[in-house]
Amino acid sequence: DKAGYKHFMAKEIAEQPVVLTGALGHYLNGDEIVLPELGIDFARVERMVMVACGTASYACHVAKYWFEQLAGLPVEVDVASEFRYREPPITPGTTALFVSQSGETADTLAALRYCAAQAAPIVSVVNVAESSIARESDLALPIFAGTEVGVASTKAFTCQLLTLALLALKAAHVRGRLSDAALAERIGELRALPGLVNQALGIEAECEAISRRLAEARDILFLGRGRMYPLALEGALKLKEISYIHAEAYASGELKHGPIALVDKTVPVIVMAPHDELFDKTVSNMQEVMARGGKVLLITDSAGAAAAGDGVWGLIHMPSVTPLLAPILYAVPAQLLAYHTAIAKGTDVDQPRNLAKSVTVE
Ligand code: F6R
Repeated sequence: DKAGYKHFMAKEIAEQPVVLTGALGHYLNGDEIVLPELGIDFARVERMVMVACGTASYACHVAKYWFEQLAGLPVEVDVASEFRYREPPITPGTTALFVSQSGETADTLAALRYCAAQAAPIVSVVNVAESSIARESDLALPIFAGTEVGVASTKAFTCQLLTLALLALKAAHVRGRLSDAALAERIGELRALPGLVNQALGIEAECEAISRRLAEARDILFLGRGRMYPLALEGALKLKEISYIHAEAYASGELKHGPIALVDKTVPVIVMAPHDELFDKTVSNMQEVMARGGKVLLITDSAGAAAAGDGVWGLIHMPSVTPLLAPILYAVPAQLLAYHTAIAKGTDVDQPRNLAKSVTVE
């Protein structure tokens, strides 16, 4: 039931503050992160491989930053369809982590079985708690997003990110990289997430207005750096899935290594850049785009908007946010831009052509 919304996707975007609050309630007890009997000792893990498909793989790419930076754990991320046939060596000390909304994605399940056969401990981050992937894991962490009906994943993505952030913090704490006080501070940040997402949903009118202009484009580029790069990938995937506009994402620093050749006045370039330690670098990439007549849509906070200067084609004003939360919060404009561009084009938002909600065949 769409609960009064025009589409399941709109409902699922809007309910993110509620489901994120629920997930926090399940995983937090005061200043403690409570995970279902952690059968894996993160103090002894030496390396992680993270495997998934589509949007779930972008959640892994964000998690890589968290596990590496917070927990000091080297992480390799791969898409399941490549991983399973490459059959990479799984060295002792490796823990394998799989992310899947449905828990039934054929390639992800096959990759899991490959790692299990190599005796790697298996962690999964799933929405459907009774799924095959959950059942075949040593540790299955539910994301508590509730049923997701829209084919384009929205609330499952933000709940995957939250669950992965909690696991990374737990690992960092167990590995002695985060003091009790530092952990409590990070948990305080996470507790503010639902309120911030609610605030971010307030940009819907801005997104709708700019989406009418995006709908006229044939190609759209997304740029992001660091933790924002996977969000650029997610923004491009969401947009092409439901609006059928060709969209591609690049790490901002890759722009001059090829894709800048595509830039002209017909190609909007969407830059996802909170005012963080990498912002100045991103601004110089933006200027390269603008110098070639490119239309930059900058998604940033007030400090970023002030520092960016003139000349951008569009601006979406996000709440200010800490680096830990930024990749979760910036999923909201990625979702809203895709949604409203699809509406402007008149496509079937909840049932895009050629796509299925759960990909149980290769
Ligand atoms: C994109 C989308 C897909 C899924 C992918 C994996 O909006 O929904 O890219 O993320 O098919 O599905 P799960 O998470 O069920 O394994």
